[in-house]
Amino acid sequence: MEESVFSQRELEEDSFESSIRPDSIDEYIGQSEVKENLKIFIEAAKMRDETLDHVLLYGPPGLGKTTLAFIIANELGKNIKTASGPSIEKSGDLAAILSSLEKGDVLFIDEIHRMPRYIEEILYSAMEDFTLDIIIGSEGNSRNIKIDLPPFTLVGATTRAGDLTSPLRDRFGIISKLNYYTIDELKEIVKRTGRVLGATIDDDASLELARRSRGTPRIANRLLKRTRDFALVMGNGSIDLEITKLALSRLGVDDMGLDQVDISLLEAIIYKFNGGPVGVEALSASIGEEVSTIEDVYEPYLLQMGFLKRTSRGRVVTKEAYDHLKIDHQEELL
Ligand SMILES: Nc1ncnc2c1ncn2[C@@H]1O[C@H](COP(=O)(O)OP(=O)(O)OP(=O)(O)O)[C@@H](O)[C@H]1O
Ligand SMILES: [Mg+2]
Repeated sequence: MEESVFSQRELEEDSFESSIRPDSIDEYIGQSEVKENLKIFIEAAKMRDETLDHVLLYGPPGLGKTTLAFIIANELGKNIKTASGPSIEKSGDLAAILSSLEKGDVLFIDEIHRMPRYIEEILYSAMEDFTLDIIIGSEGNSRNIKIDLPPFTLVGATTRAGDLTSPLRDRFGIISKLNYYTIDELKEIVKRTGRVLGATIDDDASLELARRSRGTPRIANRLLKRTRDFALVMGNGSIDLEITKLALSRLGVDDMGLDQVDISLLEAIIYKFNGGPVGVEALSASIGEEVSTIEDVYEPYLLQMGFLKRTSRGRVVTKEAYDHLKIDHQEELL
């Protein structure tokens, strides 16, 4: 039963991810505001011998939400149980997880915005009063039961804070937004992962990987892993600037870190929609990526880079994007 609520993606990535995941808050690079505040809240909870308030972590994929959830449990010195929103289908699933918790444990629910509504409603009283209020038995022979739960900390993660219902959002005492990482921070992450993997990587190569990782540790780590393969097979095993550039070009990552989907998205707006404005649905149909993938994964970075703008009438490509893609433009642009 517990197996079924683990997120599949987490299991697949488990061995590599867990080997390079920082375990303590001091090893967690960047996000200094979030980190410093969390340190205080964790410390205060420990000093009062109380359970840490529920924590909501939100931000684009791959920025370290899951990592931070595990770190919170570690720093509290408590166990962590994990589940993902869409895989909690029955009230019994949630009841099983909740009743397995011990005092002060962390329950991590990934993709918490995708929890079924009736599960969410059970969670309200669990979060607020630490009671489990469920109906058991079948139609005609059902009864309400109330079970006391040990106090616990719910850590929820989501890429879409806007999709959370307000009653759920309001039950989190700590709400932290993770932001894209700076190049310096990513460089440190690349070096750290290199050390953990036992790879030799020079400074210029670390910087290059950092610059082209779309502000995202998961991408930095993935590009490092692939570059290490190129270095092993096509070089002498150590990672320098030359092999890094070769690897990145072979991987289709351009010099600003845009990948093939980013580029086809921008080009679709330029060539098929005359630079925009275009609605996300039309764009989705045009490039064959889901609306949610465009909104959660691709757009945030393109907006941050200033290649894309959102107007009331839709998405518009900027002059910077035309320049970066070396496409001529005649009209005045945003
Ligand atoms: N601050 C950090 N310092 C070092 N490594 C990090 C940091 N944040 C994330 N990483 C690394 O980046 C990878 C992705 O992080 P993680 O899985 O926590 O992201 P996530 O926000 O949960 O993503 P998703 O939204 O897809 O679930 C992990 O391998 C982790 O080790
Ligand atoms: Mg995650």
